[in-house]
Amino acid sequence: MAWSVTLTVPEGDGPTFLRLAEAVVAEIQRGRLRPGDALPGTRKVATQLGVHRNTVVAAWRELRAQGWLETRQGAATRIASLPAPPPRHTTPRSTALDIQPMAMPRTTEPVAPGVLDLAGGKPDLRLVPIHDIARAWASALRHTRGKLLAYGDPRGHPRLRQALSAMLAARRGLVTDPDHIVITRGSQQAMYLLGRALLRPGDRVAVEELGYPLAWAALRASGAELVSITVDSEGLRVDQVEDAAKGGLRAVYVTPHHQYPTMATLGASRRMELLRLAAEYRFAILEDDYDNEFHFAGQPVLPLAARDTHGVVAYLGTLSKTLAPGLRLGFVTGPTALTDAVAAIRVEVDRQGDLATEYALATLIEDGTVPRHLRRMRRVYHERQRHFSRALRAALGERVAFEVPAGGLALWVRTLLADPADWSSRALARGAAFEVGRSLALRGQALPYARMGFASLDLSELDRAVEILAETHP
Ligand SMILES: Cc1ncc(COP(=O)(O)O)c(C=O)c1O
Repeated sequence: MAWSVTLTVPEGDGPTFLRLAEAVVAEIQRGRLRPGDALPGTRKVATQLGVHRNTVVAAWRELRAQGWLETRQGAATRIASLPAPPPRHTTPRSTALDIQPMAMPRTTEPVAPGVLDLAGGKPDLRLVPIHDIARAWASALRHTRGKLLAYGDPRGHPRLRQALSAMLAARRGLVTDPDHIVITRGSQQAMYLLGRALLRPGDRVAVEELGYPLAWAALRASGAELVSITVDSEGLRVDQVEDAAKGGLRAVYVTPHHQYPTMATLGASRRMELLRLAAEYRFAILEDDYDNEFHFAGQPVLPLAARDTHGVVAYLGTLSKTLAPGLRLGFVTGPTALTDAVAAIRVEVDRQGDLATEYALATLIEDGTVPRHLRRMRRVYHERQRHFSRALRAALGERVAFEVPAGGLALWVRTLLADPADWSSRALARGAAFEVGRSLALRGQALPYARMGFASLDLSELDRAVEILAETHP
């Protein structure tokens, strides 16, 4: 172990050296000291315990005699490998406290090594410019002389907020004040903070009946009641939102660009209508634009936030698809009162984000590395989308039906099976993972759909995945 162990001698009768020896045995038995661990030098232990060094020497001698310690010439005294005491867990498993059990929200992680991962719509991490990120990060720390390791603005580093604001203006038609952007740890945190800022227990929030379970989890955490709204080939059924609004609605969570998980793009008239309803019924639109950059057919559609004249849209973005989910960089922008509240609540739970990473990413956006990566990934993912769609159709024929969506990193595939759960288990056993519709349905009902993400696999891996899908189809 790399740490120097702190030892204590319990009060009691008998000579100090024996009590010290017993204390060491107790630490070995409860697994705090493990075979091979070096003990600190006798002088150090003596100083630490305030005893004479000879006391420690005597304790070590006793322990060596009992076989607990071994000393090789010129090396530190270590815990002997024999006899190996059974390690005991010392953190208690049961508790006297009254703690509500909490189910872990389902995620698509982790996938076992070697499994071809079609679950989620994940980017290909092998293509992330890791050397550029590492260099930018090291240089950020060096050039700011440690300032990035200090406490800072809870909204995130101003330089990244500035860079994101410029990107939103250039690419998404969104005019934002960098002071009203809050950088969060992924959009997940933004969703949770928005829930805290907007919702009170019992508030009703409309969500897509097929959608993103982690967003639902974040909203439910504030005690919201979720109201299910149908999605069709044009996305959210906005007429149903109006019905729900008549019964009282505090917010609508929506993925307009590429509806998650069906990939439908919200139609133009529905967009205008949703904005109108939000202003009339005074509910917030939580617009999750999680993969805006990966739109392959025609121009990306402008976000709802770009047309928000009433200050009703909270716009969420993320770098999880653009770069990598593990960076945990997302952001939210919207009306000042809302982003201020989000920043204030952020301080309560997290104080601030990771300034060094934020700063490094800002420099990579400014110097063109991130825009270049994006252009490249758009080409790569578009090719993978075409390849996967063709291969899937060729291998599975009538057994699957899907439209190639205008964008996004996954296909929403209709199957002949009432519930493709069995197919999914068989495919997983053979080394290919995908998600079934049921796990993306608010009510959890069986659905004849599967969601297949293609972006993280190269063309030959996609071919192999399709082979497995064809061979395991019941
Ligand atoms: C609908 C949706 N929103 C947001 C995200 C990104 O979440 P985060 O920014 O927390 O990584 C994802 C990622 O899978 C998603 O599918």
